[in-house]
Amino acid sequence: MRVLAVDGNPENLDRLQHSLRPAGYDVMTARNAAEAIGVLEFTRIDLVVGAVQLPDVDGMDLLRYARENFSDLEILMVSDRPGIEEAVQSIKGGAHYYLAKPYSDRDLLAAVQRALAKVRQQRQVQAACRPRLAHGIIGESGGIMRLLAGIDKAASINANVLIRGESGTGKELVARATHYGSERSAAPFVPVNCSAIPDSLLESELFGHVKGAFTGARESRAGFFQIADGGTVFLDEIGDASLSMQGKLLRVLQNKEINLVGSSRVRKVDTRIIAATHKDLVSMVKQGLFREDLYYRLVVIELCVPPLRERQEDILVLARHFLAKFAKELDRPIPALSDGVLETFRQYSWPGNVRELENLIQRLLVIVDKDTIEVPDLPGPMRFHVPQRQEPLGTLAQVETEHIRRVLVAAAGNKTLAAEILGIDRKTLREKVKKAGLAI
Ligand SMILES: Nc1ncnc2c1ncn2[C@@H]1O[C@H](COP(=O)(O)OP(=O)(O)OP(=O)(O)O)[C@@H](O)[C@H]1O
Ligand SMILES: [Mg+2]
Repeated sequence: MRVLAVDGNPENLDRLQHSLRPAGYDVMTARNAAEAIGVLEFTRIDLVVGAVQLPDVDGMDLLRYARENFSDLEILMVSDRPGIEEAVQSIKGGAHYYLAKPYSDRDLLAAVQRALAKVRQQRQVQAACRPRLAHGIIGESGGIMRLLAGIDKAASINANVLIRGESGTGKELVARATHYGSERSAAPFVPVNCSAIPDSLLESELFGHVKGAFTGARESRAGFFQIADGGTVFLDEIGDASLSMQGKLLRVLQNKEINLVGSSRVRKVDTRIIAATHKDLVSMVKQGLFREDLYYRLVVIELCVPPLRERQEDILVLARHFLAKFAKELDRPIPALSDGVLETFRQYSWPGNVRELENLIQRLLVIVDKDTIEVPDLPGPMRFHVPQRQEPLGTLAQVETEHIRRVLVAAAGNKTLAAEILGIDRKTLREKVKKAGLAI
């Protein structure tokens, strides 16, 4: 836990550091209110130990500022003068704890421990109100079960995570479940859309800037990495990050520190990275479009979200879930789906995955005012379920190879059976398999 000590007297700061550091607290110091505010803006602080008398402003003003702007930290006011008046004022001003001279190091430590125990307790309450691990991820297929196990594992350790999956498969949901299931759950989860930040704003958005760093920088501003200090930065669409962004990200990942734009000071940040993409990063690495070193930093744990068409059993479970959800929102009874609709859902290839299914159900509930939704209620392209193939048109040889592969899988690798299905003899099959480099 991190304590910020604010005192104009260097001896007092020394004393605070000497009594708190050995107890395992991370102690930062500020010699006046201005410095203290700078630290508070950019670092997650759990407790402020502030002197009542400060060189620049009254300690009470700093107290009020901290109270109003940072609701999740505790404040302990320390006074050089004994006296009841200041104590009363401090408590009225919103300090939770007060200590006046003379006090022993043990008194100080006890007060700090009490205050931090309260912070911890508040955070736990907050965390308990958040979704649990699998929460929100619906599905019963083997693919989803494996994914949930992967999320569990990823949540229990602190390594970086790369989530792969087609558009609309639930990558962001997986990222959130991982963060909220982890020890970092009380700290922020900060999504960053890597495709949406122009290069000119990159550093300032990611790392923040200090006042006056460039024209228009009228106030200091925290970047994504500072906001997520202690928590998780979610780098969405990482495959769209420009090479310059990749370079900057790599530096943070390697050094765990950032430079604010306009400041020469280096700040330590403690953030976990979860990245997501629908692109094939490995082939991007081969083409020189994605930095290999960054790729290996990100992919310590890899979670793959399977497309909906590969987990048939989830389609109906999800459809029922969304039917119930939107019926409740619209305050109407849950309609049934006709057998024809169920069959169409199974046949359809769902290029937009879960998002497409979710949107479809929502639209149907708004438009169709019947007890049962039937095939004619479905949108045209779906009704005629032209299987929407996403692969480009292949050559005859490719189609043949793919077909042989499918038959071999269906025949569980039994070549005699496969050859019979294919209407060729075993020798021809063996040659074709060898030529196509099929592994069986
Ligand atoms: N397994 C699931 N259970 C319940 N809801 C899901 C599931 N998967 C996805 N969703 C829902 O589908 C929608 C799309 O999910 P999400 O935004 O996480 O996908 P994505 O992979 O990040 O998509 P994109 O690549 O387009 O950014 C969301 O509304 C999400 O809640
Ligand atoms: Mg997304």
